[in-house]
Amino acid sequence: MKNYSSSPRLNNHSASHSTDRNSRKRFWLSALGLRFSLRDYGFCMATLLLFCLGSLFYQLNGGPPKVLLEIRQYLGESTFVDDHGPPTPRELPFPSQVIYNRVGKCGSRTVVLLLRILADKHQFNLVSSDIHNKTRLTKHEQVDLMKNISTIPQPFLYTRHVHFLNFTRFRIEQPVYINIIRDPINRFLSNYFFRRFGDWRGEQNHLIRTPQMKDDERYLDINVCIMENYPECSNPRLFYIVPYFCGQHPQCREPGVWAVERAKQNVIDNFLLVGILEELEDVLLLLERLLPHYFSDVLTIYKSPEFWKMGNLTGTVKKHMPTLEALQVLYQRMKYEYDFYNFIRDQFHLTKKKIGLKSTSQNSAHEPEFLRELALRTHEPFEEEEEEEEEEEDVGQEDANIWLVQP
Ligand SMILES: *[C@@H]1O[C@H](CO)[C@@H](O)[C@H](O)[C@H]1NC(C)=O
Ligand SMILES: *[C@@H]1O[C@H](CO)[C@@H](O)[C@H](O)[C@H]1NC(C)=O
Ligand SMILES: *[C@@H]1O[C@H](CO)[C@@H](O)[C@H](O)[C@H]1NC(C)=O
Ligand SMILES: *[C@@H]1O[C@H](CO)[C@@H](O)[C@H](O)[C@H]1NC(C)=O
Repeated sequence: MKNYSSSPRLNNHSASHSTDRNSRKRFWLSALGLRFSLRDYGFCMATLLLFCLGSLFYQLNGGPPKVLLEIRQYLGESTFVDDHGPPTPRELPFPSQVIYNRVGKCGSRTVVLLLRILADKHQFNLVSSDIHNKTRLTKHEQVDLMKNISTIPQPFLYTRHVHFLNFTRFRIEQPVYINIIRDPINRFLSNYFFRRFGDWRGEQNHLIRTPQMKDDERYLDINVCIMENYPECSNPRLFYIVPYFCGQHPQCREPGVWAVERAKQNVIDNFLLVGILEELEDVLLLLERLLPHYFSDVLTIYKSPEFWKMGNLTGTVKKHMPTLEALQVLYQRMKYEYDFYNFIRDQFHLTKKKIGLKSTSQNSAHEPEFLRELALRTHEPFEEEEEEEEEEEDVGQEDANIWLVQP
């Protein structure tokens, strides 16, 4: 049995306490009563009601909270109708036709080596063209190539150094595109020295493989090339990355706003992902997420020592950095290339953000510091065996007017 002897005392205590409180309340009520009449009370309530309505109105019209907007953006900016229509697929759609129209000197040798391993592992058809020096085609060559590509058994990944092919224009089903680019000056320098001195296979080897190159050209000082306006270091030859994304239209090879804007729009419309070589591991990670049927486990393979040994990816080429002055001239000449590169980098970072990856690199580089930093940089991450295109001017030349006529 329990002993409740203490309870009366407790009750007593709390009763006296509440009496105390009641008297205090009465005091305050009377004090307030002196100041506020019933009418004031009504006015007060009306104000409160108005405030509540106003707040409600604000919430309904002021748009959703920022965090909700961010979540919606992550989920893909769906509308009310989308949300109440048929449910969106929980699984990623599976593109069974993928084209990687690889840009020269942007790490594509590494990616193609990875793709060879992945094609075995995941059972897709990898077709890697061995034409490395023909990026623009006549209309007939385009149609032939596109027909060829579309007969490859699906799922396939086709890769070649070629400017964007517009399948839609010839009423063939448009495959999904992917690509990787890099800082335009670094790409240019990499190519400049690769052409002259080759890759990991050694300089002697390269001299034998390129007998047609005269010493005057091979040992041409890069500063002379830039400052004395040699064609190799001037436009239109410096306008290199944008045409891969703009397409086969002749105007796509003219450095200018038209080509850059078309390239940007085309990236939005037709490319699943354009990565930047400076963040290659994140590019591979995103490819793994977006195209799992092709790229699952790519990061594990990429990080394995066997892969690096197999690919001979450690070789470096001798490289002389141009002077700061020459770099500045180059930067001016490549302003359209940089416009495009910065756009791609921003898009890439946005995609990373949506997947939940942080971008450590800073935003738009500011010219002077950026160039100074570049001048100090020496390492070369990847060397490629592919020959750079060496096309004579206006191969596959087509009149822009003919181009505009529908097929
Ligand atoms: C298309 O395929 C055929 C047969 O495989 C080949 O002869 C032809 O050269 C290919 N054309 C192109 C443009 O690749
Ligand atoms: C591709 O061709 C279609 C049809 O002619 C055209 O509407 C579209 O603008 C073209 N896109 C590009 C990037 O050339
Ligand atoms: C790497 O180098 C070795 C020997 O130098 C060579 O046998 C091998 O084919 C090279 N690998 C590739 C992928 O080129
Ligand atoms: C491309 O290279 C091949 C051999 O590698 C050569 O026969 C051909 O003439 C080159 N084409 C152009 C347009 O330079």
